[in-house]
Amino acid sequence: MKSWSVCLLIPVLVLAAGCRRVADQPVDTSQLPLAVGGVVPGPLAVTHGGVGSPPEWSTMTQEAADGAMAQLVATDDALEGALAGTVVMENNPVFNAGTGANIRLDGKTIQMDAALMTSEGDFAAVAVIERVKNPILVARKVLDTPHRMLAGEGATRFAHVLGFADIVPTCPEAEAKFHKRWQRLLDGVAGGGYDHFDWRRAWNFPGPLPEDAARDGGPAGPETGDTVGTVTRAVDGTFAVTLSTGGTSITLDGRVGDVPIYGCGSYAGPAGAVACTGHGEEIIRQMQARTVYNLMAGGLSAQEAVARAAAAFPPEWSVGLIAVDAHGWGVAANRQMAYGVASR
Ligand code: GLY
Repeated sequence: MKSWSVCLLIPVLVLAAGCRRVADQPVDTSQLPLAVGGVVPGPLAVTHGGVGSPPEWSTMTQEAADGAMAQLVATDDALEGALAGTVVMENNPVFNAGTGANIRLDGKTIQMDAALMTSEGDFAAVAVIERVKNPILVARKVLDTPHRMLAGEGATRFAHVLGFADIVPTCPEAEAKFHKRWQRLLDGVAGGGYDHFDWRRAWNFPGPLPEDAARDGGPAGPETGDTVGTVTRAVDGTFAVTLSTGGTSITLDGRVGDVPIYGCGSYAGPAGAVACTGHGEEIIRQMQARTVYNLMAGGLSAQEAVARAAAAFPPEWSVGLIAVDAHGWGVAANRQMAYGVASR
């Protein structure tokens, strides 16, 4: 099994400078902190640990890619591989998904989104699901229903009826991130376009505002990454993508990001598969995954397409993308991002 890490950077095409916010026009990709890719035949799996995740996490994203590849080889099924890769990251408290999912501003609530898509056009998602360890596996079960998405309490009850354990997936890492987040809010540097929003006036959680939440802040280690994702290509040339997230760092109760929204966080079709991570509201506005897919369907390689989209994203917001096509793979981000690649 071959693998790559962030240490092995393959230069990207440097495209002509152009309009910053239109991904279907050439943009300057040479300044991106991360833009790599390669040409690889056969089964292929690429993972990301969320934009913002430090390169040191690449051993864990590589573990996820290897887990995806093991399933790809065992099943020859692109979706089975993509599910396996994202489950590995949902089970690791370092990542903002499943076990390590962000705690919302009330200090108690954990609401997660997850989605999957295949190149045959199958799509399924869960939104604002609570009290499960592996939201992506619940999304897989939604695929067996007549529906495409379950949300909120219905999604949570659906999971528990099917036998998923009723657990609050929290951990010391998520607690530390929560306290650090509140400190940033109190300091007035929420970031990500949220600095000027009055959270107190809009407070919609059932419980009171946790005024003393920053009290136990302390060192919280590196800031969390965002959504985790896996894209795969099976030996028969079919593709799949899975995404899972604890949501963006600072949100109101019930907020839904890009992950479960069709064509936004993820997309797959005959030309390949795409997974996004980053500022969900802007990813939705750009219908980012479908936009990148269209670039690949129009003839750009996976590497070219993700680099162009990352370079065109508004620089004040973070974005990361991974993609596979018939020939190879691409990874690009406008911040740091851990990723893994596995083939055989
Ligand atoms: N990209 C994840 C989210 O915005 O929820």
